[in-house]
Amino acid sequence: MAKRPILILPDERLRAIAEPIDKIDEGIRRLAEDMLDTMYDAPGIGLAAPQVGELRRIVVMDLSKDDEPKAPIVMINPEILSYSDDTVTTEEGCLSIPELYYEVERPAEIKVRYTNLEGETVEREAGDRLAICIQHELDHLDGVLYIDYLSRLKRDRVLKKFQKQARRAG
Ligand code: NI
Repeated sequence: MAKRPILILPDERLRAIAEPIDKIDEGIRRLAEDMLDTMYDAPGIGLAAPQVGELRRIVVMDLSKDDEPKAPIVMINPEILSYSDDTVTTEEGCLSIPELYYEVERPAEIKVRYTNLEGETVEREAGDRLAICIQHELDHLDGVLYIDYLSRLKRDRVLKKFQKQARRAG
């Protein structure tokens, strides 16, 4: 098990655009494993590579409940192919913005395409929590954070709080 440190707001790397992965080699497999270890340890339900400082297009998720067996999902070079018109508002949090939760409105269902660790192309439809989680994690690959969807007032309040903490940790 290899945990990696999770970058915290306002770390600049959280705002970078991640690079596509052209080959699934040992390094990528190890990164996926480390990301899952890091996510389970946090604990969280999703983690994107930029959150551990790797600017590569890979995300991991597990939405299984506590009493269910683990169900890790690894998505490499994921893209959302379509969004439903209907939206849903749910409370989101982020391991890079710890201890805060805000409501965000997003499309309720999506269709996503990605490569899995075996190198296979997968297309699937997702709804409910999975649809929200995928959208949240894929945003990370483009330097977008869920607080970007909040009102400016709320977002600035969050940013100030973390800028202050970073200065204090200095
Ligand atoms: Ni996040």
